[in-house]
Amino acid sequence: MKIDVLLGLQWGDEGKGKVVDALSPGYDVIARFQCGPNAGHSLEFNNKKHILHLIPSGIFHPDKLNVIGSGLVLDPAVFREEILNLGHPVEELTRRLVISARAHLILPTHRILDAAFENRKGSLKIGSTLKGIGPAYTDKASRNGLRIGDILNPSFREIYEIHKSAHLEILRSYDFNPDISAYEEGWFEGVDLLKRFRIENVEYLLNEQAASGRKILAEGAQGTMLDVDFGSYPFVTSSSTISAGACTGLGISPRLVGDVFGIFKAYCTRVGSGPFPTELFDDTGELLRKKGCEFGATTGRPRRCGWLDLPGLRYAIMINGVTQLFMMKSDILSGFSKIMVCTAYKYLGKEVKEVPFDNNAAIEPVYAELDGWEEDISKISDYDALPENLKRYIGFIEGQTGVPITLVSVGPDRNSTIFR
Ligand code: GDP
Ligand code: IMO
Ligand code: MG
Repeated sequence: MKIDVLLGLQWGDEGKGKVVDALSPGYDVIARFQCGPNAGHSLEFNNKKHILHLIPSGIFHPDKLNVIGSGLVLDPAVFREEILNLGHPVEELTRRLVISARAHLILPTHRILDAAFENRKGSLKIGSTLKGIGPAYTDKASRNGLRIGDILNPSFREIYEIHKSAHLEILRSYDFNPDISAYEEGWFEGVDLLKRFRIENVEYLLNEQAASGRKILAEGAQGTMLDVDFGSYPFVTSSSTISAGACTGLGISPRLVGDVFGIFKAYCTRVGSGPFPTELFDDTGELLRKKGCEFGATTGRPRRCGWLDLPGLRYAIMINGVTQLFMMKSDILSGFSKIMVCTAYKYLGKEVKEVPFDNNAAIEPVYAELDGWEEDISKISDYDALPENLKRYIGFIEGQTGVPITLVSVGPDRNSTIFR
């Protein structure tokens, strides 16, 4: 059985949590493959909104197995808070969730290092969520990291202290002398809670599940434009957010990957610094932010808003091998008389269709103008009942990308989802 991958094609917050939750009934296993508490995945059902950071978005379905893969960096303090806020007994959750022994730990000092490094960056600040992501992945790559499996070592506390001292030494050179004792307490309570869960070599588990015909959905975090290799570096996160990241983050072969679901908002948003060619600084941008409630699920920061960027979308489709597109937040575009779509960039005096390497390049979007629609579509469940101009918008994007849009989302609830 092939493993399907679902991931964001823009700068994150496309609506991955909502869609994974909506698709979960069709899968047996839902597995997160990278990053960690910088993610904020929202999902909604029974008039209640839930925000997940580390835990896969299939967790609310009692009969599904959720997996935290090896590619993640996990902060036990965040994990504990998230588990206790889910509203289900821990005993029950230990049956629904398995954690990779190979995933790395975010130490309390990684969070402070994140702040210290960001502080030094001046005008080049990334706008990090300051959850310790960059420093934890740095330690992983430099072979200085601690992994989830290490918490089972009877000498874990001593090993932890050695790592902490090394971090504190770096922090002193940045004039940071933090008191981490309060955070550390919650962190170790999180370590104790982690020990109640299955900590395993999940690469065996996932490969065995696939071999026995169980359906697996790999859930990405962030988006392609935040990928450490192919995003707008250095304004990116520190992991592989692309479909290849599902292989390295879960221990599955590329030959096992089936569909790649690429999800995008009907417009664009970005939180944090970095290039954003179609960003709107006017009333239209403000209206998108207001109508779309575009405020970060992890930090509450206002998201930057703009029109859909097709050169970016085509780039992301190419990098990921997207087989189906899912369009999110289509309801937010109701009421705009004209909808602009960026089809190319003007760059160095020429019209180009590629995403340039240079983040500081003066890029001017080349727009196509499409007619909008007035109707409220948030209660529509049948594709044919959607306004004609929305269907034209969908057809235009399909024509420009060559990939079918097979799911149209019209609201935050799991039921506000139109399958074609
Ligand atoms: P994720 O990080 O990709 O899971 O996305 P976030 O949860 O950070 O941000 C998406 C936001 O849009 C959340 O507040 C969702 O509840 C909301 N949302 C998702 N899909 C839709 C939709 O189709 N329409 C509307 N109006 N809101 C949506
Ligand atoms: P989800 O999974 C949107 C952004 C941050 C910052 C940059 C680096 O909810 O889509 P980091 O904390 O990794 O050092 O931040 O990446 N960022 C996200 N933006 N959605 C996310 O996740 C993000 N995770 C990180 O704002 O610009
Ligand atoms: Mg989010």
